[in-house]
Amino acid sequence: MKFPDLLKTANREETSLLEQLDPRRLPKHIAIIMDGNGRWAERRHLPRVAGHRAGVKSAREVIETCARLKIQALTLYAFSLENWRRPKAEIDFLMRLLREYLRKELPVIHRNNIRLLVIGRPEQLPSEVQRDVTRAMEQTAGNSGMKLAVALNYGGRAELVDAFKAILERYRRVQSNGSAAGFRVDEETIAEHLYTAGLPDPDLLIRTSGEMRVSNFLLWQIAYAEIYVTETLWPDFTRAHLLEALIDFEKRERRYGGLSSRAEEKSSAAARGGRG
Ligand code: FPP
Repeated sequence: MKFPDLLKTANREETSLLEQLDPRRLPKHIAIIMDGNGRWAERRHLPRVAGHRAGVKSAREVIETCARLKIQALTLYAFSLENWRRPKAEIDFLMRLLREYLRKELPVIHRNNIRLLVIGRPEQLPSEVQRDVTRAMEQTAGNSGMKLAVALNYGGRAELVDAFKAILERYRRVQSNGSAAGFRVDEETIAEHLYTAGLPDPDLLIRTSGEMRVSNFLLWQIAYAEIYVTETLWPDFTRAHLLEALIDFEKRERRYGGLSSRAEEKSSAAARGGRG
């Protein structure tokens, strides 16, 4: 049996989807732009915040499923630097919801051996949110299972600015010690100074609610990610939708700028032919 842990609680549809999944081809890191909470609420003539509350349920289901599938890392885009442009009441609600989520779900996160990380500029968040987030990260710091990175007050360009500033700072330090001669900046140096240092790059980026944008999310890290956009609004996104995205991912051929295996075969056959 491939996923005994998940099959125990799976319904018929989920069981059939799980059977189509190959555990060896799963992504290492899934990043999700959770979009469509507002539209979900509007369609039901509910206030936008009702969509955010419903979105927490989807987040919970996706986190649990990824942990059980033994995905190494999951990153969720919860609050962007641009989100400060929303009405204050909505921002306050989102902050309260996050604190409520941490209070209720931390024991479950801990029990599932998940390590919680926050990426972004949390120092600009309300102090009570910073306190809860720090506590949650400290409590789960020793967990060895899935890394759950919550992007909070996050922007991809801001992350690059912060990384370059940190690299410059490091350069100044080594220069003042007189040891700058071997100082190099390469791709590895930049990756090491991103908020996501230590995480593999996302190999799958999921965006709900149909928008074809990356919205300033993990700009450096998604260079080779497969992108999966679904029309489903985030509050409607279930375990079955996640499994469908994973099945789609497993069918794709990842080339990293090289050739597909069929094209490679053809081209080496032609080269052999050419050499006689
Ligand atoms: C986008 O919907 C969603 C957000 C602004 C993020 C909020 C996410 C949650 C509340 C899910 C819970 C997450 C965690 C980690 C507890 P939108 O308001 O942009 O929707 P719209 O595009 O339809 O207006």
